[in-house]
Amino acid sequence: MNVQGHPTRTIWPTTDGTAVEIIDQTRLPHEFVTVRLATLDEAAHAIRAMLVRGAPLIGATAAWGLWLALRSDATDAALARAHATLLATRPTAVNLRWALDRMRARLTPLPAGQRATAARHLAAEICDEDVAINRALGAAGLPLFQAIAARKPAGAPVNILTHCNAGWLCSVDYGTATAPIYAAHDAGIAVHVWVDETRPRNQGASLTAWELLNHGVPHTVIVDNAGGHLMQHGRVDLVIVGTDRTTAHGDVCNKIGTYLKALAAHDNGVPFYVAAPSPSIDWTLGDGLREIPIEERSGREVSHVQGRLPDGTVATVDILPAGSVAANPAFDVTPARLVTGLITERGVCAANAAELRKLFPER
Ligand code: MRU
Repeated sequence: MNVQGHPTRTIWPTTDGTAVEIIDQTRLPHEFVTVRLATLDEAAHAIRAMLVRGAPLIGATAAWGLWLALRSDATDAALARAHATLLATRPTAVNLRWALDRMRARLTPLPAGQRATAARHLAAEICDEDVAINRALGAAGLPLFQAIAARKPAGAPVNILTHCNAGWLCSVDYGTATAPIYAAHDAGIAVHVWVDETRPRNQGASLTAWELLNHGVPHTVIVDNAGGHLMQHGRVDLVIVGTDRTTAHGDVCNKIGTYLKALAAHDNGVPFYVAAPSPSIDWTLGDGLREIPIEERSGREVSHVQGRLPDGTVATVDILPAGSVAANPAFDVTPARLVTGLITERGVCAANAAELRKLFPER
């Protein structure tokens, strides 16, 4: 997507071939800063500290991280160590395991001397594949927008509500939940996005708003609690969110607060769609509520908020009374019964095991 008019991905190998470069998402929206990752530890840190985040981008960064590790030591032991180090960075998004297992399966049979080069090629392939998948998600979701637009007065925008950042910045390019939004916007359909700010880390306010602004998509940032009210008053035509892990039965784990949006949508008859690329489907799990590991992050993300001061400097302030304790579960599970449909790269399906398997018979 565009950053100040320039097509940009979220991760790319440097031209000298010695590292990968990422956008430091902890600095957005106030500063656009790129960071070089040259070692396994730097890649693991980037994922853990959320310089990169979002399920597909976590997987892509881990793939490059494995390449960085194998350049200095490509033995079986080093491969196992790097795989374990990267897998331990964040627990919820299954794309991390998906990318690492795919890399390991391809690299293990090779002689050690060929592994680093093969890892570089496969990491690039995973990134290109992510872009292709997200384009296909956009095409698959576009008819939903066309149908809603056709029912509305000419020129009236399709109002979408989204949560967290399941946009270009969560992936290598295009995003997942935003892919159909960009596709509709680029096809000339009037769209307007309600952007949940998404406390505690504000990925909606800081990241989704920033990327929609860069692509010229009309949007309005709202507090997380406003969505239900807007739905009650007919101001949301559909909800589209991303997913960090979708079970084989269609339960969806996504950023904390997604479940409440699904409940409000259900109560108000608003369609609730999940953009679910296949690498975020965990075919080994059935019951999302009991089986998906939910990341518990530091209470500091709840107690402290980052923003820009009038003099332009970026600062972090404490908003809690001294002595109060904060808890920070980072994801929740929306049961399949609340999901209108899953938008996959192979088409839209109902959120259940039978329909998912029709689209992915090889699983
Ligand atoms: O904690 P984050 O910022 O990594 O969480 C990201 C999300 O919850 C996204 O909505 C999710 O990764 C889906 S995007 C494919």
